[in-house]
Amino acid sequence: MTLPIAPGMQRRAEITDRIRAETGIDEAMIDQLVRRFYDRVRQDALLGPVFAARIADWEPHLQKMCAFWSSVALMSGRYHGQPMQAHLPLPVDAQHFDRWLALFEATANEICPPQAAAHFIERARRIAESLELGIACGRGVLLAKGQRYRRDDPARAANS
Ligand code: HEM
Repeated sequence: MTLPIAPGMQRRAEITDRIRAETGIDEAMIDQLVRRFYDRVRQDALLGPVFAARIADWEPHLQKMCAFWSSVALMSGRYHGQPMQAHLPLPVDAQHFDRWLALFEATANEICPPQAAAHFIERARRIAESLELGIACGRGVLLAKGQRYRRDDPARAANS
């Protein structure tokens, strides 16, 4: 007996299959990317302390990030969370996002074939930009298109 599948689920499964076929991305690649990336983050002088102040037990965070990237890259729907809420209180600005992306891109290029790396990197850049915009906005700074959020900008000192 075959169980009925909701049309939305069926469509999502098809999208996941197509991305998987075109890029070679699968859960094992995501797991490797996430673990290698956060190994680097934890050792990084700028980003390491921001994470260390908030994450004591890394395994649940790594699992959550695998679910997140599975949802973002494969449309698997595995992640249910609110990334913006998690980042709003963090003491970060443009330089943190630049470092985050540099480490992420280096790791993706090292671990993934080119099409898969490009797929992850494009999405990471888009999400990083929207988190930076959201963080600036949460501190009363409205960025123009392409403008970056800098906490040490004297013109914004009152807002940082
Ligand atoms: C400035 C760079 C970044 C820093 C310092 C940072 C730091 C953190 C920290 C400390 C947490 C844990 C928050 C908590 O549990 O209290 C977190 C969670 C998370 N981060 Fe980031 N992050 C950065 C950029 C990004 C980017 C660019 C993405 C996505 C492409 C991302 C995706 C996530 C997700 C999905 C979570 C889990 C949120 C949840 O609890 O559901 N982060 N991040």
